[in-house]
Amino acid sequence: MTGPKKKLYIKTFGCQMNVADSEQMALALAEDYVLTDRPEEADLFLINTCAIRRKSEEKVRSLLGRLKGLKKRRPELILGVGGCVAQQEGERLLKAVPHLDLVFGTHGIYRLPELVRRAGKERTVDIELSPSFPEPPPRQWQQGQVQALVTIMQGCNNFCTFCVVPYVRGREYSREPEDIEEEVRSFLAAGGREVTLLGQNVNSYGRGLAKPVTFAELVRRLARLPGLERLRFATSHPKDLSQELIAAFGELPALCEHLHLPVQSGSNRILAAMNRRYTRERYLKLVARLRQVRPDLSLSTDLIVGFPGETEQDFEDTLELMREAAFDQSFSFKYSPRPQTRAASFPDQVPEAVKAERLHRVQALQAELTLAAHRRLVGQVKEVLVEGRSKRSPEQLCGRLRTNQVVNFAGPPTLVGRLVMVEIMEAHPHSLKGRWVEELPVR
Ligand code: SAH
Ligand code: SF4
Ligand code: F3S
Repeated sequence: MTGPKKKLYIKTFGCQMNVADSEQMALALAEDYVLTDRPEEADLFLINTCAIRRKSEEKVRSLLGRLKGLKKRRPELILGVGGCVAQQEGERLLKAVPHLDLVFGTHGIYRLPELVRRAGKERTVDIELSPSFPEPPPRQWQQGQVQALVTIMQGCNNFCTFCVVPYVRGREYSREPEDIEEEVRSFLAAGGREVTLLGQNVNSYGRGLAKPVTFAELVRRLARLPGLERLRFATSHPKDLSQELIAAFGELPALCEHLHLPVQSGSNRILAAMNRRYTRERYLKLVARLRQVRPDLSLSTDLIVGFPGETEQDFEDTLELMREAAFDQSFSFKYSPRPQTRAASFPDQVPEAVKAERLHRVQALQAELTLAAHRRLVGQVKEVLVEGRSKRSPEQLCGRLRTNQVVNFAGPPTLVGRLVMVEIMEAHPHSLKGRWVEELPVR
């Protein structure tokens, strides 16, 4: 192409995998488009969507409504919707939103250049799901970027009865370990320090490869790469958490002592109805083993309240499990019936008011647990990776502990991107306040 590049704006909803996918969209379109952070000047406006709960879907519809005016003022603007809602709705979305030019599914990312060209001429839909996934082109790392998300697998085969992901993301597909290692190496060579490996269930990574590899093997291989300070991963399904991976937490210095292990419910009856394939006892046993190997491990989880048939007793089992596991953090949600999923047609759907009340109780308990965990950190000196200036008070810096808590502290902006030692001074509900002690030598 000759002449200046056109402008691309991407609005991303949903999980970290979507954040990684949006980067891939920009990369796929890089020949013709350059990213802008000003939506009003975009030639191409893409929305990367999430369908996990009804609320996530509503956010997309309301943004589309608001974009009607922009499209009217600039009819040459190409407006496209991709990701999980696009995959779920396809043609229906194009029909419902007359000012929309393009609907592309979760496997359409690498077909984007051609799809966008087509969408400039006629309204276009592509929601084909293929059994495999093309290996993405080499990433382009930003100047000063110290953290990266690396997608290691696509899709999900688990079919938890509440979850839309297997329908909108297709079957599990793992990238080759060599390709993943190459991506991580190039990031480290460009100055990267922290890598988060992404998949819907990383614990089943590698099963479908010609030469099968376990997730723990991949983690071992990456954790020893020179320059990698911090390695994290999400999300881990308790049913597949191996002894080998648990052991890795005690052996690999780069592997951060934080694990996100979604439990969803503390009731065996509900766990079975969710098709989670573990019991509360098994979950708690995993937690005990993890803490044996790594006593300072911080643990976070996801919880659903008001799943069909959940009684007060089931719910109280969840509260009790939260106390026993002593979660440092949790993300909790009211159950939301999703299209195609089995639980959507289960009897005994729980009334909205009951869900709201239970959510409130879960969140109140978590606030107590989180604050208690934060208080235990006060007085300790911890390693912090400085991520940038604090959002609330720009004269402060903001970073994360290896255990994932956010720390704010005063220090020169030259520390951004660096590893520093910080003494934890105060515990707050959502963050910690600290005092910069010294800069760690660059390893
Ligand atoms: N792959 C991850 C979860 C991805 S979805 C895993 O297996 O743990 C992120 C979280 O959204 C889930 O852990 C669950 O707590 C929540 N969630 C998924 N479907 C939901 C639904 N229908 N209603 C409410 N919450 C839901
Ligand atoms: Fe959804 Fe379950 Fe797959 Fe997670 S493991 S993405 S909750 S079906
Ligand atoms: Fe949402 Fe799709 Fe992620 S449904 S949570 S964006 S995989």
